[in-house]
Amino acid sequence: TAEYSLRPQSLSQYIGQTKVKENLSIFIEAAKMRKEPLDHVLLYGPPGLGKTTLSAIIANEMGVNLRTTSGPAIERPGDLAAILTALEPGDVLFIDEIHRLHRSVEEVLYPAMEDFCLDIVIGKGETARSVRLDLPPFTLVGATTRAGALSAPLRDRFGVMSRLEYYNEHELAFIVKRASEILNVEMEDSASVELAKRSRGTPRIANRLLKRVRDFAQVQGDGIITHILADKALKMLQVDSRGLDHIDHKLLLAIIEKFRGGPVGLDTIAATIGEERHTIEDVYEPYLLQIGFIQRTPRGRIVTGEVYSYFQLEVPE
Ligand code: ADE
Repeated sequence: TAEYSLRPQSLSQYIGQTKVKENLSIFIEAAKMRKEPLDHVLLYGPPGLGKTTLSAIIANEMGVNLRTTSGPAIERPGDLAAILTALEPGDVLFIDEIHRLHRSVEEVLYPAMEDFCLDIVIGKGETARSVRLDLPPFTLVGATTRAGALSAPLRDRFGVMSRLEYYNEHELAFIVKRASEILNVEMEDSASVELAKRSRGTPRIANRLLKRVRDFAQVQGDGIITHILADKALKMLQVDSRGLDHIDHKLLLAIIEKFRGGPVGLDTIAATIGEERHTIEDVYEPYLLQIGFIQRTPRGRIVTGEVYSYFQLEVPE
């Protein structure tokens, strides 16, 4: 799909996350020199910043297969055992949302990560016995939006921990430009900067907006994404000047209107606007914290003065 082809295939094509990239490239090169698999890698940070993409790049750069699964998809220890025994030496196993692994599954993972082996119990009751099975050496790449949600023993088994950061405007404009070239659509530079400004620091959002703006250019324009057309399309998409959407607005306005700007607890906010606590915590809140629109206090969330001027509201006394 086009979505797939927009993903960079190598570290050299990957824009941004400079520190993470520099470090990974050294660890990859060193592992290859030693003809060993790369140490296990934990990628953490807000959604849409490239964790899945990086896992594919790691496999590519190491010249091995990528096997992809997710925490909630592995229901029982046997599911994980089946995946692990099917790996080839050196393969990358990517587990997305690794903080959602079941405890019983996690316990299978510990010896697998540490000693590349599997402890399985054969039989029942009197005749039950434990057998140790060797696994091919492999690299686990785990991804999570919250490193803090991982159990300490799991976290400790990752030799590399990389935190992905929000992209700056310049990097996002570059990503949008690159994507427009892959999609073969003509775009004014100022239009890619406009999209970058409104993508909440997130390539996934930038590329999604690019595709939607391209639709407007095709149907209402001559296929070229001009700055004027991008502005119009983004207005139609209800993406505001800072890239905030309907739910961001609802969240901020609820704190202002129902709780006098806070402090208010996350569960109360969630109930008020009808969103899941975790969705707010992992998806909406991190960017609002990053741009200084909300702050965390021991007694809950508060909106900052900036939000009042953003919505042209009077700051209450
Ligand atoms: N597409 C999505 N994320 C990207 C990135 N970090 N670099 C290049 N292209 C991308």
